[in-house]
Amino acid sequence: MKFIYIALLLTVMIAYSSAAARCRDPNETYLECTPCAAINCGDTPPEVCVAACLNPGCFCNKGYLRKNGKCVPESQC
Ligand SMILES: *[C@@H]1O[C@H](CO)[C@@H](O)[C@H](O)[C@H]1NC(C)=O
Repeated sequence: MKFIYIALLLTVMIAYSSAAARCRDPNETYLECTPCAAINCGDTPPEVCVAACLNPGCFCNKGYLRKNGKCVPESQC
């Protein structure tokens, strides 16, 4: 019984950590800090960059911007 409990706990931990480190969209990456660049379509890149590391999450890859929740190439904004 104890073994099953430990195995279950391990499974949950592995599932949780990989979910936190990966993003569903192949065009986005999990980052600890908000990147110093435009994030959404129509955004202008910030002039002063404050490293915002309080909200880690999935951000679009370089050259991609978020539009309606999806990461699209800048040219498709
Ligand atoms: C990722 O980018 C490619 C190339 O721009 C695009 O064709 C594809 O639809 C994007 N994937 C998603 C899930 O948005």
